[in-house]
Amino acid sequence: MIDEIRRITDEARAGIAAASTLEELRAVDAAVFGRRSALTVLKRGLGGLGPDERRAAGLALNDAREALETELAARRRVLEAAERRARLEAERLDLTEVEPARRRGSMHLVTQTVERLEDVFVGMGFTVSEGPEVETDFYNFEALNIPASHPARGMWDTLYVELGEPESTVLRTHTSPVQIRVMQAQEPPIHTVMPGRVFRRDTADASHMPVFHQIEGLVVDRDISFADLAGTLEEFTAAYFGGSIHSRLRPSYFPFTEPSAEYDINCLFCEGTGCRTCGGTGWMELGGCGMVHPNVFRAVGYDPEEWRGFAFGFGMDRLALNRHGVDDIRELFTNDVRFLEQF
Ligand code: DAH
Repeated sequence: MIDEIRRITDEARAGIAAASTLEELRAVDAAVFGRRSALTVLKRGLGGLGPDERRAAGLALNDAREALETELAARRRVLEAAERRARLEAERLDLTEVEPARRRGSMHLVTQTVERLEDVFVGMGFTVSEGPEVETDFYNFEALNIPASHPARGMWDTLYVELGEPESTVLRTHTSPVQIRVMQAQEPPIHTVMPGRVFRRDTADASHMPVFHQIEGLVVDRDISFADLAGTLEEFTAAYFGGSIHSRLRPSYFPFTEPSAEYDINCLFCEGTGCRTCGGTGWMELGGCGMVHPNVFRAVGYDPEEWRGFAFGFGMDRLALNRHGVDDIRELFTNDVRFLEQF
């Protein structure tokens, strides 16, 4: 019987080693340990042996069982790892791969929107400028006529970066600090737009994200008036949204502009007749604007007696979403390829 056990064990070992998939290994497992397997049959036969022989054969059977179980488990680990690797390889998405015959990727919805906005503004004579996402208090607030104790600081739920003095470094809460950087770097006349990512302490839901996108505009020249601001925004509105969408300005308050206004456009869904999306008003709020405050010019060393300017800033994410009827801003940041590849 001992010889028989050895023969069966060797055969089982060979089977385990030869199994090249988990499926094959499961079959080997059943053949070695199953109810009708040679080992089970031998075990049932133990009862017919004499006591000494039975002891020796029982021990040999147990040893064989344990050894084979260990080998099975080891082989299973190897095959599982191989199959996991194969599965990962098969499911791998190579986002850098270029396949000329078929479109394999596209610009992110936000990037598409930034590029279309830039195209329209460049067509109107603007340049495109950029600034850093981590800003100092000076650029994000101070130079924009929002001193430390100013109540208007409450307009922005600020995220601070642990760098330098407490609350001296921020994730920019808007793109307006880029205005300051542009003015510091050059002399008027200035006609520029400044797209970028901005950050606020906000809980993510369908219409809010702690990170989103704005585009800022700044024009500085002699003899710039509020009429130039209104005309530029109307021109932009028609060029970007199509001739049936118009703009309006409503009095408002921003520390860096005086006078300040809210910039509204006709609701993109009902085109101004009133619907559920615009709450029946026919208008959608896009952003803020106004005439550059003299203190902002002073902060960058421009003479407010000599120079006039207007500025505006609005969110880009909602434009990207509206265009495709997507109603959850979180989709723009989850970066699920299955969502993104639709656009
Ligand atoms: N920075 C403002 C905000 O994020 C938006 C804004 C308002 C920008 C008026 C401007 C402006 O340039 O003139 O709430």
